[in-house]
Amino acid sequence: MNPTAPPQKSQVPWWKTGVIYQIYPRSFQDSNADGIGDLPGILSRLDYLADLGVDALWLSPINPSPMYDFGYDVSDYRGISPEYGTLEDFQTLLDQAHRRGIRILLDLVLNHTSHLHPWFVESSRHRHSPKRDWYIWHDGKPSPWGKRSPPNNWLGVFGGRAWAWHEPTGQFYLHSFLPQQPDLNWRNPELREALFAVMRYWLELGVDGFRLDVVNWFIKDDRWRDNPPKPFGGLRPYEWQHHLYDKDRPEAIAIMREIRRIADEYGGFTVGEVFTPPPGNPELVAAYYDQGRGLHMAFNFAFTYCPWQAEAFAGAVERFEGALGPQDWPNYTLSNHDQPRAFSRYGNSVARAKVAAAMLLTLRGTPFLYYGEEIGMSNTRIPRRRLQDPLGKKYWPFHPGRDPVRTPMQWSAQANAGFSTGEPWLPVNPNYPSVNVEAQRNDPGSLLNWYKALLRLRKAEPALRLGSYGRLPAHRAVFCYERQLGEERILVALNFSSATQPLHLPMGATWKVLLATRGFSGEPLSGTLQLPGDGVLILKAMAYP
Ligand code: NOJ
Repeated sequence: MNPTAPPQKSQVPWWKTGVIYQIYPRSFQDSNADGIGDLPGILSRLDYLADLGVDALWLSPINPSPMYDFGYDVSDYRGISPEYGTLEDFQTLLDQAHRRGIRILLDLVLNHTSHLHPWFVESSRHRHSPKRDWYIWHDGKPSPWGKRSPPNNWLGVFGGRAWAWHEPTGQFYLHSFLPQQPDLNWRNPELREALFAVMRYWLELGVDGFRLDVVNWFIKDDRWRDNPPKPFGGLRPYEWQHHLYDKDRPEAIAIMREIRRIADEYGGFTVGEVFTPPPGNPELVAAYYDQGRGLHMAFNFAFTYCPWQAEAFAGAVERFEGALGPQDWPNYTLSNHDQPRAFSRYGNSVARAKVAAAMLLTLRGTPFLYYGEEIGMSNTRIPRRRLQDPLGKKYWPFHPGRDPVRTPMQWSAQANAGFSTGEPWLPVNPNYPSVNVEAQRNDPGSLLNWYKALLRLRKAEPALRLGSYGRLPAHRAVFCYERQLGEERILVALNFSSATQPLHLPMGATWKVLLATRGFSGEPLSGTLQLPGDGVLILKAMAYP
């Protein structure tokens, strides 16, 4: 790959060089003993986050919500859920985060609202309501039994039909997720303006941007065609259809441009969730970037589906890099609030978690961290009576739902892991007496300190933030690549096996160790080395021929 010239500092937007940390507010830190995390709780942990070295926080939704889907069912786009605090608390958080150089991104859920949102209440009053067309209503089809049947075969992501019958007005409404989450009609210009006004409201208040929920659901087929069947697609009926017509419609891209235009007016950043089933669809994700005209970024979930093999991750990187246009900026995610935690996926091994972290934090692209990832939080088994997630409740015991990945942050060995002095809304992982921030803070070999070292390294080395990416040949168990910026060259070698593997360093340079898991001291390296099992080696070229 051609080395790129070092850009001027001011030319590079923060979201390219920064690291974004996702907080699930309900589970981060409780301040008032109700067992639910809140904004003052997050405020009290800002110093921890600054010390960790992250640049921005993405807060999962904090708007008022009846919590059928824990905030992803918004009943007031401009308010703060009383469970989490007040608008004043939010402003304090924003201000204090900014003072520490940390930006705040809000999660905007604009595909649907709560059924209790005043817009939907109004829309469902009668067929001629001025807001009727803000949602997706349909007469359905006549059925031989007198009742009408849904307009097509679309299914809800959380189970059942995607159409709910509304008896008082005699029509169906569309809900791509729960019946309590009616879909908004993005084809209606007035509705679009109302949603853009929501964006402006928060940007004017000083937020730094948005994570946009399920942007690939915004537009549906205008002819309401049936989705074709997909035999043996998965465990849930939803997976037995090709979702050709209920999402991923090409007209959505024009909306992304409008969203981008508004964000740009305020210097705001946007990252969209383009959810597709495993193994992900980088080309579709790239379409939402729209070559610099669409969203600043759309999530790349490829790593959340990769088996623990060097080739799988290397292939995912190449495919994503290949799908993006030259001006588009990649991003990587190991975990989020919808996916099993990376630590569990990769075999509950601290050594592997270190390899994964090194990869996430040294690739070309913006890394997204999920709270607790930095201490190796794992999936927690939730007893049936404590289940909260509608997905888990519906498909128990076949699908664990998402509660196992949303358990309280493990701060210390104190009761409830220091998360709350009340009864936590979800059980704390029983491993908290040993897996917690306090225990890892003073242990130089801990995962937490490894994350901190990587974050520091990324800040110190412009080539890691902005350099080009090029894969280097290596043993098939080793993922090896170079990041290059001007004269600077950094080599990253990641051993995905537990056995020692040979590593041939590129000829013509001697290398100094920037960071390594074990087995290397400060001496310059060249030629062939032995990379220990589960080992990470990050080197910098000292002399360039
Ligand atoms: C995607 C979110 O990440 C998920 O948590 C939520 O349930 C759905 N969108 C519906 O809003």
